[in-house]
Amino acid sequence: MKIFIDSAEINEIKKVSEWGLLDGVTTNPSLIKKAVNSTKGTSLEYYIKNILKISKRKPVSLEVIGNNFNDMVREGKIIWKKFRRYGNVYVKIPVNPCLEDKCERDADGIRAIRELSKSKIPVNCTLIFTPEQALLAAKAGAKIVSPFAGREDDYIREINRIKFKKEDYFPAEGIKKMKKVMNDNGIVSGVDLVKECKEILIANKSKCEVLGASIRNQRQFREMALAGADIITVPFSIIEKLLKHKKSIEGMRGFTKDIVPEYAKILGGAK
Ligand code: E4P
Repeated sequence: MKIFIDSAEINEIKKVSEWGLLDGVTTNPSLIKKAVNSTKGTSLEYYIKNILKISKRKPVSLEVIGNNFNDMVREGKIIWKKFRRYGNVYVKIPVNPCLEDKCERDADGIRAIRELSKSKIPVNCTLIFTPEQALLAAKAGAKIVSPFAGREDDYIREINRIKFKKEDYFPAEGIKKMKKVMNDNGIVSGVDLVKECKEILIANKSKCEVLGASIRNQRQFREMALAGADIITVPFSIIEKLLKHKKSIEGMRGFTKDIVPEYAKILGGAK
């Protein structure tokens, strides 16, 4: 399983790359907005080229901003032309770019994926909330589909009027409410969404990779990995937490306290 960082912050990407844990990077317009403060006088274009350089040919997803077929294809081609020579660019296309329920452009995302894929531009299809969206995106040629697990958990709680904090744990098997498991058209949790996306692609012999996105805590990372995600994109604050446990610290303290000078000498250190 590959680990991507969900960030546009150069310092965070650099650190994870130095740790040898970086398999790729995902960005979106909100993450770019957050990172703009750290560009410190350099142009955003130069800053993005830098992200690509420090990612050393690992996939970096850059998202379009248009919400119709023509704009998304035009922007996808601009992203590709401008940045491809600096790294391994993936163009991120929303599965359905409509801004409201009633919209005649439901298939614009799928059409844009097909068009860009025909030109051999790799596409990461984003904002996936159903396995069927994942399947259609894969059929259109997407190399990666990104189900948003955390936001799916939010939605299940919202439609059931459950109060929650963004970082609250949401069980992979869902939550029972009045003898029924809360669900969104059969999907009982964000992790379940990731699992079903993977299963529908396997059942259809698709090579498209499932990238678990919108993750909120370490346990969700574990459950997505167990659910068969090919990739998980993780915010830096959660990557750091993956290495932490109170007992690891306690154990280290004990071992450090017990080091005898002779043992330290063998290992080339003074104690
Ligand atoms: C994935 O590619 C998205 O950038 C991201 O995971 C969204 O996460 P959020 O729901 O925490 O904004």
